[in-house]
Formats: sequence, C-alpha cells, structure tokens
Amino acid sequence: MGTAILDGILSKNILSNNDIFVLEPNTNQSILLKKKGICVFKSITKINIKKLGIKALLIAVKPQILEEVAFEIKKYMDIKVPIISIVAGKRIKFYKNIFGKESSIIRVMPNTPATYGKGISAIYPCNKTKNSHFQKTIKIFSAVGKVISVKKENEMDIITAISGSGPAYVFLFIETLIKSAINNGLDKKTAKELVVETFLGSSHMAAISNKSAEELRIDVTSPGGVTEAALKEFNENNIFKNTIDKAIKSAVKKSIMLSH
Ligand SMILES: NC(=O)c1ccc[n+]([C@@H]2O[C@H](COP(=O)([O-])OP(=O)(O)OC[C@H]3O[C@@H](n4cnc5c(N)ncnc54)[C@H](OP(=O)(O)O)[C@@H]3O)[C@@H](O)[C@H]2O)c1
Repeated sequence: MGTAILDGILSKNILSNNDIFVLEPNTNQSILLKKKGICVFKSITKINIKKLGIKALLIAVKPQILEEVAFEIKKYMDIKVPIISIVAGKRIKFYKNIFGKESSIIRVMPNTPATYGKGISAIYPCNKTKNSHFQKTIKIFSAVGKVISVKKENEMDIITAISGSGPAYVFLFIETLIKSAINNGLDKKTAKELVVETFLGSSHMAAISNKSAEELRIDVTSPGGVTEAALKEFNENNIFKNTIDKAIKSAVKKSIMLSH
C-alpha cells in the first residue's frame, strides 16, 4: 500500500523523489524503491530526521508491529511533524499515548485500487491537525484516487470494512462468477473478459447514472426472464443480503478489536 501511494505521489508530481525518504527493512522492496530514485533507509537509527528536514511522516506498517515502530520513531521524531497513518484499526488515542497530546495525527483508510490510481481514501484528522497538513494529506491521497473526509472517528471501522477490505469481496465475486462461467462451458479467457467487463461497466453505470443501484437492478430484470431466475436464487431466504450483513458486521468487529 505504501508503494502504491508513493507511485501516485511521484506520477502526479506532488513531491519529487528527492523530497521522499523511505524506511524499508525489506531488501527486495528497497532495491525496487532505489530503482525509482528514492532514498531508502534500512532502519530509523540511520536517519537524521532533523537534518533531512522531514515535514511529514507516513506510517504504512502492519497493525501488529505498529506499537514497536511508533516507539522507535518517537525517539527520533520532532513533535511538530504531522503523522499520517494508514494502519487499520488503531485509534488516534493510541498514537497520542505514544507521541503526546499535542501531536498531529491523521488517520487514512485507502484501498488497493490505489495501485492504479482508482482507490478511495477516507481521512480523519485529530483536533491538533493544522488545516494546511490536512489539505496536504488530501492532495497526497488524491494522487491515488478519490478522497472523502470523515467527521467521526468510529466511522473509520465501518469504512475499513466497506472500502478498505471491499476489493477482496469484489474479487471473490469476480472469481466465483468466472469459475461458474467455466463450469458452464466457457473457456477461461472468455469467462474472465466477460466477468471483468461486466463489473467495470456496471460500476461505471452505478457511478454516473441518476438511478439507484436498486433501480438499475430492476431495469435489467425482466419479469419471468433469465436475470430474474438467477436473482431468485440469490434472494432465497435473503441468503445474499444476510451473508453480506454478517460479513460486514464481522469485519467492523475485527477493526474495533484491532484498536484494543
Ligand atoms: N492492503 C490493504 O488492502 C490495505 C488497505 C487499507 C489500509 N491498509 C493498511 O496498510 C498497512 C500496510 O498494509 P500492506 O498490506 O501494505 O502491508 P505490507 O505489504 O506488509 O507492507 C508493510 C511494509 O512495512 C514494512 N515494515 C516492516 N517492519 C517495518 C519497520 N520496522 N519499519 C518500517 N517498515 C517496516 C514491511 O516490510 P517486510 O515485508 O520486510 O515486513 C512492508 O514492506 C496496514 O497497517 C494495513 O492495515 C492496507
């Protein structure tokens, strides 16, 4: 995810590669980053943050190692530097406990289509975040897709479950539909093309049409027709709706759990 954001920033000229420093312990990733002309450090102890004049820090590590990384950063960080974190689940309170009450923390929940500039990111700043830092964060994440701002922190758990994890649900649907097409006799290449284009086209319609998704669905569904036959199976005993509700509830619960 960090690399996707970096690529977006570079391709949209939001920052030049001379203005970006990456802390990356993974050797293979380091090699790829160096090829892009980025200055890479293996450990924070190798960076003189003050000398480099770092104006913002973006944290993109897994939640499990965040605490260890945050305490390490704290030893070297200037409190005035805003901290942007894309880590799922962790609350502003978690960062304040480590970096102090006066620190400026900005939580962001992006998603993987950001890799191709088609992501959506939700941004939640803390009460100490300056508007200029908030605007800069919006600019950075606009480089990899759309951006929305969030008013209440607990909405971040729902957003994580909907758009953060959402690409996986869509891929599951795509994967299942392709398998079904193949099982019914189509070849793999044709099945993939039909399914992927159907998702792209339908998403485009849902995005630009004045009609709701429900109205668009009804438009495609002629009474007694082929579509209706399939939807009847999806809707039997509300299985489809109930499964999605259950899955999202479980994802929100997990996001809340990660914060503890
Ligand atoms: N993937 C998603 O769909 C998604 C969506 C929204 C938000 N997020 C959030 O984004 C964060 C990153 O997720 P990801 O999927 O991009 O994970 P990832 O691919 O594992 O990336 C994390 C990177 O951090 C590096 N790292 C490990 N220890 C470090 C340290 N001490 N200092 C600096 N870097 C270190 C890792 O190196 P190694 O490979 O050597 O461990 C890896 O390159 C997570 O907190 C996740 O919650 C992810």
